[in-house]
Amino acid sequence: TANGLAKTPPMGWNSWNKFGCNIDEKTVRAVADAMAASGMRDAGYQYVVIDDCWQGKRDADGNILPDPAKFPSGIKALADYVHSKGLKFGIYSDAGSMTCGRRLGSQGHEYQDALAYARWGVDYLKYDWCYTGTRNSEEAYALMADALRSTGRDIVFSICDWGVSRPTMVDKSMPWEWGEKIGNLWRTTEDIYDAWAGRKGTSLGMVNILDLTEPLYAYAGPGHWNDPDMLEIGNGGMSDVEYHAQFSLWAMIAAPLIAGNDISQMSDATRAILLNRDVIAVDQDSLGHAGHRVRKDGDLEVWSRPLADGGRAVVLFNRSERPADITANWTDLGFPANVALKVRDLWAHKSLGSVTGHFTAKVAPHGVVMIRLGQ
Ligand code: GLA
Repeated sequence: TANGLAKTPPMGWNSWNKFGCNIDEKTVRAVADAMAASGMRDAGYQYVVIDDCWQGKRDADGNILPDPAKFPSGIKALADYVHSKGLKFGIYSDAGSMTCGRRLGSQGHEYQDALAYARWGVDYLKYDWCYTGTRNSEEAYALMADALRSTGRDIVFSICDWGVSRPTMVDKSMPWEWGEKIGNLWRTTEDIYDAWAGRKGTSLGMVNILDLTEPLYAYAGPGHWNDPDMLEIGNGGMSDVEYHAQFSLWAMIAAPLIAGNDISQMSDATRAILLNRDVIAVDQDSLGHAGHRVRKDGDLEVWSRPLADGGRAVVLFNRSERPADITANWTDLGFPANVALKVRDLWAHKSLGSVTGHFTAKVAPHGVVMIRLGQ
């Protein structure tokens, strides 16, 4: 991307999955405190992003103002607070007349809003696609990208264009086809909800989103990423085994790791997932090649991601309802069958020695085994 940002997938937190429109400055401050205190900041989580519903009115000159009841100190003070914790600050708007939560959108105010964000100290903008009428999405996103650029501030641009997947939308463009030149990440589907699989209204379960995003792996690369929506880890709708799977597979496909839980009150199990540095290192690998599925035998799958050190991250993924042995063959991963490779288990956090030809492990129902293979 022209802005030179997000060489690895963005990491951080966003208010939407847990708080929806119930977001205020007190909650955001508590999250920033917890990002620092929990170790998340030190593990690489950087952006604290307020999603929809922070907006109030525009003043007589058209300047956007925050909702005074929820953000009485103003956005600049909140951004300063987040920055004081060694973190970066993100915000949300929409390319239409209204946001998806029916607050004021940026259509017709792009340059004015971008300037306001820059003055407040915004480092990340998630830009949504509701109430856009007959607008062309590529043009609308290019316009905001130009507005952000012309502020002179480094602002990661998150393209939240799920239009292609919604049958009622006029604009059917596919953001992965033009996203690289305009933004740093683009949504690949409609919204996630906190479930293993299924559809609830316009939202999709975790594996549905995974399957829609997997074929797009070649579009991802340094500065421009597929965004299969945010993490649900810790929100309670899935088991911890399923949350291990989300974290592992999101890392495999080089997804942004944006926590969506209340990190000021998370369980030890949730913290252990979000803070797995071995898995984070896969997500943040500097080669920036997204992984994909290399083998599927019914509900049993092998996923592979090439890494900068010449090795591979591999996930054995069991979608079935009973434990199963899954085998990764070196030849499925692009290695000769006769080469000996070191195996490290990224959830057990231990080395499993040197192995030749293939690796087999028993995988829990809806679970993963994730390893790193190398010389
Ligand atoms: C859309 C987006 C979500 C969230 C909501 C806010 O549905 O896809 O991620 O930002 O809007 O209203």
